[in-house]
Amino acid sequence: MSEQIPFFSFAYQNQILREQLIEAMTQVLDSNWYIMGNALEQFEYEYAQFHEIDYCLGVANGLDALILSLKALGIQANDEVLVPSNTYIATWLAISEVGAKPIGVEPCEKTFNLDPQKIQAAITPRTKAIIPVHLYGQSCEMDQIIGIAQKNNLFVVEDNAQAHGSRCNGQMTGTFGHINATSFYPAKNLGALGDGGGITTRDKELYQKARVLRNYGSEKKYYNEVKGHNSRLDEIQAAILSVKLKYLNEFTQLRQHIAATYTSSLQGIGDIIIPYTHPKVTHVYHQYIIRTDHRDELQHYLNTKQIGTLIHYPVPPHLQKAYSELNLTEGTFPIAENMAKKMLSLPIYPGLSEADTARIVSTISDFYANL
Ligand SMILES: Cc1ncc(COP(=O)(O)O)c(C=O)c1O
Repeated sequence: MSEQIPFFSFAYQNQILREQLIEAMTQVLDSNWYIMGNALEQFEYEYAQFHEIDYCLGVANGLDALILSLKALGIQANDEVLVPSNTYIATWLAISEVGAKPIGVEPCEKTFNLDPQKIQAAITPRTKAIIPVHLYGQSCEMDQIIGIAQKNNLFVVEDNAQAHGSRCNGQMTGTFGHINATSFYPAKNLGALGDGGGITTRDKELYQKARVLRNYGSEKKYYNEVKGHNSRLDEIQAAILSVKLKYLNEFTQLRQHIAATYTSSLQGIGDIIIPYTHPKVTHVYHQYIIRTDHRDELQHYLNTKQIGTLIHYPVPPHLQKAYSELNLTEGTFPIAENMAKKMLSLPIYPGLSEADTARIVSTISDFYANL
């Protein structure tokens, strides 16, 4: 029987970074300071430098990064926020958490990202913000989205959880919006060894608001200016992220190399639709997603051949039980619903070998040959 190819593995990263990670964790241990210390400040500085942006704040996770960003902008009850119909539910949940209403907008069928053409029609007098999500590692068409936001006086909050280092017209994601959120969930392109999240902005006032909100609404210990959260990035995670940030570009290139192999080898096999990258953006391949009418059978077949795959995501947010109060039935967002039925995420991560990639391609090919 062939060896298992897991959908995702940390083995390679852990192996090459092991000594450095242990050293970074030991330094935090010996510092006797575990929350809001030098390691966090250092990582925030490095992450901001990497993005050529003024401010970065480490927070507890990506969902909190979105919530705190919306709160810093003053988004609240009765406001509407435009959000992709096909994103991970966290983007919708953040909007709900501040009391506002998520208004789904369908993606472009080719890129899976928010379709700029469809945004204008969804804007009402209550619309306050747009959250473009750079889904699966590909930047949205940010020039178009910023243009629409400016014309309509809307805030932009990028959800950059899946696209660390992606670019649109040469500019990095996480630097376009008024304030932007990201996740350092372990399996993200830049991942901690536990939960973590980040906020980036050029706006000093928004930075200060979010900074106070993440720490009980307090700048000075035991003096609380607003009702805040406890949402801080631990020292140990910040130190780990500083190590991993140095390898982000190298790891992204490994992902892009695997993606290029998939793209050249899967083209023309069966009814597979390979991912499309918009010419003005770069794709950092958080996921490599194919579409096929035979998705479930293909996934089952790969599973029997010891190849792990996942579906991102099987149920779009508007059809989740959590959003039953919106009464959005099947058919409301046909593009998102159709994607949920046809998409399959193939293994892609630093350390996936050429031999493994070749085996995945040939197994997919065998599936269609026997169909
Ligand atoms: C698009 C998107 N937004 C937000 C999040 C939330 O991040 P976290 O899991 O760190 O809360 C995630 C990741 O899970 C995500 O993929």
